[in-house]
Amino acid sequence: MEHVVSDKLRRPLRDLRISVTDKCNFRCRYCMPEEIFGPGYAFLSNDKILSFEEIERLARIFVSLGVQKLRITGGEPLLRRDLPKLIERLYQIDGVEDIALTTNGSLLKKFAAALHKAGLPRVTVSLDSLNEERFAYMNGNKSSVKTVLEGIEAAAEAGMQVKVNMVVQKGKNDQDIVPMAQYFKEKKHILRFIEYMDVGNSNSWKLDEVVSKREIYETVNAVMPCKPIEANYTGEVASRYRYTDGDQEMGIISSVTDSFCSTCTRARISAEGKLYTCLFASDGYDLRQLLRADKTDSDIYNEILKVWNNRSDRYSDERLSGTHTQLSRKVEMSHIGG
Ligand code: GTP
Ligand code: 5AD
Ligand code: SF4
Ligand code: SF4
Repeated sequence: MEHVVSDKLRRPLRDLRISVTDKCNFRCRYCMPEEIFGPGYAFLSNDKILSFEEIERLARIFVSLGVQKLRITGGEPLLRRDLPKLIERLYQIDGVEDIALTTNGSLLKKFAAALHKAGLPRVTVSLDSLNEERFAYMNGNKSSVKTVLEGIEAAAEAGMQVKVNMVVQKGKNDQDIVPMAQYFKEKKHILRFIEYMDVGNSNSWKLDEVVSKREIYETVNAVMPCKPIEANYTGEVASRYRYTDGDQEMGIISSVTDSFCSTCTRARISAEGKLYTCLFASDGYDLRQLLRADKTDSDIYNEILKVWNNRSDRYSDERLSGTHTQLSRKVEMSHIGG
């Protein structure tokens, strides 16, 4: 029988989320507010960022530890030069069953065909409103709904499956819940609503700005009746709902009001090569230093194994039960891509 690598809470290592850049061309207020990530902000220099060779090497080692699913994130991953070349390398790794990309969609029209050609089967596009004014407010005035929708269409036309993520913030874009559900149901793309989270240190998160999974469900269900359905796989982050008049579905990601740490099989690597075992971790384990020292794959395998065996993170569960410690510093979302 295959030996399963597991953490202190018996969770295997199955998913690897790889951030390829800490830069982004948006300034979403809940992630990279302009006041903090302004012109003077020091992003990582190129020599600090993992090369494609280094990323591929790590991905192979992670696959030998049990990873089956890769997700490329950022910042905005399409800002990384030649990204399709990285996809091509990762696609060829034996044991990788799924690769996806999380993007803000602004450059997707330009890259969709090349990404698909490189082997990318699907993309997840973030879009918080169909209303130009509100979307501009959410993304710090950096892009338009039209551009993102064109990106989504280009991805679908190129042959990729598209999912759309919408972060819901009370008083900011909650009036967009139903129009978004209607639009993407018609377009046959799966929309997932995400509860606004207290990630990073920059977004001045308040619990009363969270629209709960229950409220989101009731809002959609009142206009477009839908019923909960089974998860696609154990540990799926989104709760799924199918509309009763067909086979279209939507999802809700409820890290705040209904956490899902007990099945969390996700490791994250930042663009500078730090390994994080939770989205809310304060520090990561420096893999870049191992890659750039004279270490063998087996040395690196053993270091990652130790980190995973030691893992006991369950931040969202603890937040829910009020037993979490207020961390003085958490990793930024733009470093580990959600
Ligand atoms: P599929 O592979 O399509 O099922 O996507 P996914 O839901 O695994 O990945 P995606 O990147 O689309 O996740 C959507 C959002 O859910 C992320 O951007 C995060 O905001 C949130 N999320 C994903 N994983 C976690 C997690 O482990 N913990 C918490 N708290 N939130 C998560
Ligand atoms: N709460 C919830 N989701 C967030 N994202 C970024 N910041 C937050 C937050 N504070 C989402 C983005 C994107 C993904 C990378 O993470 O909208 O869909
Ligand atoms: Fe950029 Fe995504 Fe963060 Fe928005 S949420 S600033 S698009 S990384
Ligand atoms: Fe996993 Fe941490 Fe999210 Fe819980 S809070 S699901 S442990 S990443």
